Amino acid sequence: MNICVIGTGYVGLVSGVCFSEKGNNVTCVDLDVEKIKKLKNGTATIYEEGLEDLLKKNISEGRLKFTSELSECFNQSDVIFIAVGTPPKENGEADLQYIKGVAVSIGQLISSYKIIVTKSTVPVGTGSLIKQIIAEESSFNNFDVVSNPEFLREGSAIFDTMNMERAIIGTESSKAAEVLRDLHLPFTNNIVITNRETAEMIKYASNAFLATKISFINEIANLCELVGADVTKVAEGMGYDKRIGHSFLQAGIGYGGSCFPKDTSALVNIAEKAGYNFRIVKDVEKVNTDQRYKIIEKLQAAFDNDLSGKNVAVLGLAFKPNTDDMRDAPAVNIIPELIKMGCQVKAYDPVANENAKMVIPHLHTVPTVLEAIDGADALLILTDWQEFKKLDFHSIGKVMNKNVVIDGRNLYSPDDMKKAGFYYSSIGRKT
Ligand code: UGA
Repeated sequence: MNICVIGTGYVGLVSGVCFSEKGNNVTCVDLDVEKIKKLKNGTATIYEEGLEDLLKKNISEGRLKFTSELSECFNQSDVIFIAVGTPPKENGEADLQYIKGVAVSIGQLISSYKIIVTKSTVPVGTGSLIKQIIAEESSFNNFDVVSNPEFLREGSAIFDTMNMERAIIGTESSKAAEVLRDLHLPFTNNIVITNRETAEMIKYASNAFLATKISFINEIANLCELVGADVTKVAEGMGYDKRIGHSFLQAGIGYGGSCFPKDTSALVNIAEKAGYNFRIVKDVEKVNTDQRYKIIEKLQAAFDNDLSGKNVAVLGLAFKPNTDDMRDAPAVNIIPELIKMGCQVKAYDPVANENAKMVIPHLHTVPTVLEAIDGADALLILTDWQEFKKLDFHSIGKVMNKNVVIDGRNLYSPDDMKKAGFYYSSIGRKT
């Protein structure tokens, strides 16, 4: 199949590379000329395990191409994927300016039957909007617009795509549904064919449900602290029930990243526009925001509410491990608050130091754990990097000024920390 993917961000690039790996001819298009230059040379513009190898392989085997001109690949493509960004506006609504721009370009180029597919997460009804824009730009009306949302996670994007758990195909056209089913069958047998609005809703409902699981377990954690229970055991016990499952029940300092915060507020906004008050998701968002500040309360409790002049080592800045992504990371709220309270912060992240400095004013980063903890009065864990799980607290105790660890990701055993002589406070467990 001949495929064109517009937008080479996380979703577009990974999808393009994986479609080519399954034998399709793929051209990825992006207005960013510099990015296209790098990609043409086989250099991945984001870090994802296995991405660069697949990129190089498929370029050299002639199935994967890159261009900044949509007109170069449009005519010969059967399927056009739209994978451009839909960032949140101030009011939480998804900004569709890039999607609309692409629809105008498609309208200007279309002259033979095309299947136009949205992979970006777009509000319910966007497929119809795209259809309308193309119709306004062109008198040629032989095309179908399909919703085919993406479910990959940052950090395991290639794995998630090559082993996708389901493909959602939203279209009323049986011709388009058949083409997309054939395209996805090499990836999964779980194919849901439905109408466009339902497909668009499946993506929001999935992300909002996962966010709800996280806020739910965080509230259980807060309650556990008050009644002397241990949230990690509660989650383990709950998870054996197949209807609940173990995943996304890790209590901590809340979810971040480019998807959950954006998609939960977009869903609330979609509901508002439809005249519906989506109470659960609104509360999920509130719980998540409050959860970020819990770690500061715990730090204050360790120092009798006086944090002025305290040296604080922060380990972990990215919103989750194995990425340098700082978008909506809890650290972005927590660190400025600590600085405001008079703390001197030294932060370390295995890969996100540079990105963090761009979004956190006055951030002092250091290149090693040791430099962060040297002379520190307290150590704060904000991201669950594997590297932090292996720290030797007997040696760390000798380097720190005071032995205080506030763990926002429940990486260590409270008993072990006590034995190592630490004041240790984590989430939803006895200190
Ligand atoms: C998420 C979804 O998992 C993907 O399925 C979806 O495709 C993607 O959004 C998207 O819409 O594009 P991602 O944002 O990459 O993927 O990250 P996750 O691995 O889902 O983690 C999100 C956040 O939840 C992180 O901040 C993580 O620390 C937090 N989390 C996750 C918890 O606090 N507890 C958990 O048990 C699990």
